[in-house]
Amino acid sequence: MDLMEYQAKELFAKHGVPVTLGKTVETAEDARAAAQEIGGVVVVKAQVKAGGRGKAGGVKLAKTPQEAEEHARAILGMQIKGLTVNRVLIVPAESIEEEYYFSFLLDRANRSYLCIASVEGGVEIEEVAKTNPDAVKKIPVDPGKGVDEATAAAIVDEAGFPAELRDQAIGLVVGLYKVFTEEDATLVEVNPLARLEGDRLEALDGKVSLDENAEFRHEDHAAFEDKAAADPLEAKAKAKGLNYVKLDGSVGIIGNGAGLVMSTLDVVAYAGENHGGQKPANFLDIGGGASAQVMADGLDVILNDPQVKSVFVNVFGGITSCDAVANGIVQALEILGDDANKPLVVRLDGNNVEEGRRILDAANHPLVIDVPTMDGAADKAAELASK
Ligand SMILES: Nc1ncnc2c1ncn2[C@@H]1O[C@H](COP(=O)(O)OP(=O)(O)OP(=O)(O)O)[C@@H](O)[C@H]1O
Ligand SMILES: [Mg+2]
Repeated sequence: MDLMEYQAKELFAKHGVPVTLGKTVETAEDARAAAQEIGGVVVVKAQVKAGGRGKAGGVKLAKTPQEAEEHARAILGMQIKGLTVNRVLIVPAESIEEEYYFSFLLDRANRSYLCIASVEGGVEIEEVAKTNPDAVKKIPVDPGKGVDEATAAAIVDEAGFPAELRDQAIGLVVGLYKVFTEEDATLVEVNPLARLEGDRLEALDGKVSLDENAEFRHEDHAAFEDKAAADPLEAKAKAKGLNYVKLDGSVGIIGNGAGLVMSTLDVVAYAGENHGGQKPANFLDIGGGASAQVMADGLDVILNDPQVKSVFVNVFGGITSCDAVANGIVQALEILGDDANKPLVVRLDGNNVEEGRRILDAANHPLVIDVPTMDGAADKAAELASK
């Protein structure tokens, strides 16, 4: 589960990482009141689970409560990377002297933890990584040993933090490591980690991803789940027991089996490059045993995504054979009736594929296009999405 900035900062505070919590509000009027209460210049920050909020216009400085209200009114309801902003964080504006980057993450490839740190600029870290990769230090962390003060000191020295900030940085690294391990996170990121006036080090932003497999150890984490602000399509999918993740593209995806769906996303993104950069609109795994109802539920969720222009149904018949899936698709389209209104590219393969294709042909639904190969179907779906 990804946390929003204000939630990440709550965990930072819990483990002694210096942050200013500020106030999280859902209306422009409350933003004004919060700015009034905080006093002085404030920053109004969109709370969405997406990066690049600043560049999208979701982080704004306000000199007066009136201005905070105006900014909040503009930011609330705004879309950032396809996500609607439902709340904003109001924090005091700090005077920033330098920006750094710091993170701990799970290094799956090396079965280890990794710390990434850079003292060469925070927000532009991706750019720094390209133009000056040596400035971005990647420091492996042994999960068995963890990070005590001595290890933190070694990290701080390797990253090249200024001497006058060394002690603060060590404390901060130990604190962030506690957030990472004690909260069972897979990512803890601070960007920017800022040097403020008077040589104070503070986390001005925070990103935390929690490992849902460890939820049973953290009753308090349930409070982070935000049903109101959750994407309505994701909420609907969850209610129907579907394994759905909204993405930012135009090609809706349905497949059976998480691995197949993952590779379908890749194939569509690749094919999309030839069609004006079309991308997958979602992840949706309807699992084995896809009944007509499950197919209808899946299509219903995807077709209600206004970003979706075409749908790619990619099914490999195994225990559930292709004819059952084809019947499922045909019945699903009947269930949906006029709600089915976007082209559906269907690729069937595997068990009983001929019968599956025959069923689709016989139904002759005007929206269904049967393409036998995965690459061909991805290309067709991306092409239709680009129109
Ligand atoms: N409290 C603050 N006072 C002054 N400036 C701030 C404050 N918080 C953020 N900023 C400025 O806004 C920039 C962007 O803020 P922030 O890092 O929170 O959002 P972002 O990086 O655009 O979003 P994301 O990290 O999700 O990509 C920071 O680099 C910093 O310059
Ligand atoms: Mg940031």
